[in-house]
Amino acid sequence: MGIAKIAILGGGQMGAGVAQVAATAGIDVVMIKATPGPVDKARSGIEADLTKLVERGKLDQSARDAIMGRLSFTDRLDAAADCDLFLESIVEKLETKREKFAEVDRLAGPQCILASNTSTLSITAMQSATKRPERFIGLHFFNPAGAMKLVEVIPTATTNQAVTASVIGFVERLGKTPVLVKDETGFIVNRLLTPYMLDAIRCVESGLADIRGIDTAMHLGANHPMGPLALADYIGLDVVLAMSENLYATFKHDCMEPTDLLRHLVAEGVLGRKTKLGFYDYSQRPPAPNKALQKR
Ligand SMILES: NC(=O)c1ccc[n+]([C@@H]2O[C@H](COP(=O)([O-])OP(=O)(O)OC[C@H]3O[C@@H](n4cnc5c(N)ncnc54)[C@H](O)[C@@H]3O)[C@@H](O)[C@H]2O)c1
Repeated sequence: MGIAKIAILGGGQMGAGVAQVAATAGIDVVMIKATPGPVDKARSGIEADLTKLVERGKLDQSARDAIMGRLSFTDRLDAAADCDLFLESIVEKLETKREKFAEVDRLAGPQCILASNTSTLSITAMQSATKRPERFIGLHFFNPAGAMKLVEVIPTATTNQAVTASVIGFVERLGKTPVLVKDETGFIVNRLLTPYMLDAIRCVESGLADIRGIDTAMHLGANHPMGPLALADYIGLDVVLAMSENLYATFKHDCMEPTDLLRHLVAEGVLGRKTKLGFYDYSQRPPAPNKALQKR
């Protein structure tokens, strides 16, 4: 059960990142835009990233052209019809994902494996919107997809073993390391990371230290590549909020409950790097702590 052609729904930071990784590994990728707007917005982001690699001498021009040649862009879900794998990577809302899976289940060929890149949502709850529970699986990449080596692979109780094996082979072909996880909210990484980021936000709220201080402490004191607030900005504060809501709804642990500050920031559209403002202000070089939050 080889995977030679894939469709990715959603051209946000994760969808575009995984598309670039897969095309670089020699796989044909059709990117399907999930919301209105120009279909090839994701193309310019990928092109810019590949151009930077060429300029730095990490990729030659012919390899760059070959990668771009393996990518196509559309807003039609039926482009998944002849794909071996469909990966959903849209907004972290169960009902929205279920609707798209029900639709793609009708359009995709019987060979196609359906997969979700959800950070925390139940794979089983998504697969029940389709008529192919044996060909449905979670495939959780990390951000940035090009650099992060882990992919959590989440078969459900009904996923066919050959499908799991095929997906593991695909992940390895991308140069990533798969880890099998049970279908439980947050899987491994976000189950452990989300309470950590929320606690850091509580430290900002209580004034334990300033933003830079909290991040520097965990960067140097725990040897993490970046602090928890910079990490939350990197992931996207809307994604962090969705993860904490889903985890709290499942486990009811106090440490998983979204904080007021996180809710306010998301309601104000302050989402981290993708909006250029979060715990840091990314319009400045280098990014500086968000002054409005330092005063709170
Ligand atoms: N950000 C991360 O670190 C990270 C890591 C792994 C997985 N994920 C998961 O990947 C998925 C996408 O996250 P992202 O970080 O790329 O987000 P993003 O905000 O960069 O992109 C969101 C995508 O969802 C689409 N979208 C928004 N509203 C929609 C709607 N109502 N209907 C259909 N599509 C809609 C957008 O067009 C866009 O393609 C989420 O499930 C997220 O939990 C995120």
